[in-house]
Amino acid sequence: MVIGLIGSGKIGGTLAKLAVDAGHSVVLSNSRGPHTLSELVAELGPNARAATAAEAAAAGDIVVVTIPFGRYREVPVEPLDGKIVIDTNNYYFERDGHFPEIDAGETTDSEVLAAHLPGSRVVKAFNSINFAHLAEQGLPAGAENRRALPISGDDAEAKKVVTELTDSFGFDVVDAGPLAEGRRFQRDKPAYGPRLTAAELRDALARG
Ligand SMILES: NC(=O)c1ccc[n+]([C@@H]2O[C@H](COP(=O)([O-])OP(=O)(O)OC[C@H]3O[C@@H](n4cnc5c(N)ncnc54)[C@H](OP(=O)(O)O)[C@@H]3O)[C@@H](O)[C@H]2O)c1
Repeated sequence: MVIGLIGSGKIGGTLAKLAVDAGHSVVLSNSRGPHTLSELVAELGPNARAATAAEAAAAGDIVVVTIPFGRYREVPVEPLDGKIVIDTNNYYFERDGHFPEIDAGETTDSEVLAAHLPGSRVVKAFNSINFAHLAEQGLPAGAENRRALPISGDDAEAKKVVTELTDSFGFDVVDAGPLAEGRRFQRDKPAYGPRLTAAELRDALARG
């Protein structure tokens, strides 16, 4: 599978490494242009290349959007039509500026991205784990005390694909429900940050 990355920073770079290690190809992109990603491409090896964001979006069977949330309007729309889009973003008003509808609890960061990408099948995933933990805490399927990660989304088939990908990266998955339920594992919620097993994560999501 080809995984496109829009954003190749701490989380994007970590997911790219996990994807390459799991046997996929990756197409990386950032805001400054492919020439600024040569070091990361060299580290990742022959199954990685760098491109523009629009090219990464077009190339990916699955595309990860992993940028500062406040820049979501810069994400290319047309090449993502019909595709599964993994949204790792978190809303931090200190970094992103205030979004009054999110502050008021009327919507969530992922729903705002999904509204920008009306033809895409957006799944919120990997937003609640620190990038260093994502790199280090994966375990084989069935391992005792394996960490679980939450996802949310409105498309069952897209969630199945993201669940399988997450499993191949070393983590169980707990489906928190429709995309709007991503509010249960956003910043300051019990499911945001700690290392939890699937049973513990279900409990934390219920409390969130
Ligand atoms: N750090 C974590 O542990 C962590 C964990 C979970 C979720 N998250 C969330 O995931 C998102 C990414 O976090 P991060 O820590 O990986 O950020 P980061 O290290 O600052 O990387 C951000 C990446 O996005 C790129 N970017 C910015 N605007 C872009 C655009 N318009 N088009 C394409 N690429 C663009 C940046 O490229 P340039 O450098 O060229 O601008 C950079 O490669 C954030 O929303 C964050 O809150 C972070």
